[in-house]
Amino acid sequence: MELLYDVKDGVATLTLNRPEKLNAVTDAMRQSLARHVEGINHDPEVRVVVVRGAGSRAFSAGSDIYETSGRTPVEKRDTVEMEAPHLLRRCIKPVVAMVRGYALGGGLELALACDMRIASETAQFGLPEVTLGWIPGAGGTQYLPRLVGRGMAAYLLYTGERIDATQARAIGLVDVLVPDDALEAETARVAALIARNRLDALVFLKAALRMADRASPEVGMDYERELIALCYSFPDREARIRAFRDRNPRDSQA
Ligand code: COA
Repeated sequence: MELLYDVKDGVATLTLNRPEKLNAVTDAMRQSLARHVEGINHDPEVRVVVVRGAGSRAFSAGSDIYETSGRTPVEKRDTVEMEAPHLLRRCIKPVVAMVRGYALGGGLELALACDMRIASETAQFGLPEVTLGWIPGAGGTQYLPRLVGRGMAAYLLYTGERIDATQARAIGLVDVLVPDDALEAETARVAALIARNRLDALVFLKAALRMADRASPEVGMDYERELIALCYSFPDREARIRAFRDRNPRDSQA
């Protein structure tokens, strides 16, 4: 199985499982990912998703270069929506990338399609497509500038150069940087913090963040207002307020 799937304690884990090929992404993986994202969206047990690579060398070295051999321009154009980052963006729940080793090309774009990136000191990021004679086709030219700024995105896109985890942290591509042997534990800690929250509140947060990706703050604020109003219809709201008061005796006296 080239894509492993596991759910435990509200946390779904998707593992790209081709370590001998540095987890280069194949069509079979894409089809499996599409099915899993659909399943995750419908499964009330899943509150957060972790995406990772198998083995110690790579998150993913990108799309499988050999598999694209012989594809025509029209075939490429018509299959772009099936690229793994686009599929992952269909996930309505929080998604955390756990990055160890190479995250290159489509691998970097897959990490970009996650809500946040937790990386080990071994992580290396780059968009080498230009050195192969083409360009990134799954969001690299659009989402990277929004995250790290146009200049740094241009640098990575035009040169194809790789940067290490410390540099990636400095430009905001990595959100949490830990020693390699702490990566699993830190990712599990963050996922557990997310998973303890109400699922519909998490889904609303993701929807609001997605709006922030593509709308003006004014439009986004209108959307946020409707979402928080909806939160006030959650049936356990009063119980949660009472639970908070009872956990904090000083507040309840006020
Ligand atoms: N597609 C298909 N196979 C890939 C791959 C990719 N994107 N990246 C790595 N592999 C395969 C290699 O062909 C090799 O397989 P083999 O042992 O059957 O020959 C295996 O993974 C290990 O890679 P290798 O190149 O031998 O490791 P390395 O340590 O010498 O180099 C990289 C590591 C990441 C620098 C190098 O593999 C690389 O540049 N990969 C391509 C990255 C890229 O351009 N991605 C964007 C694609 S659009």
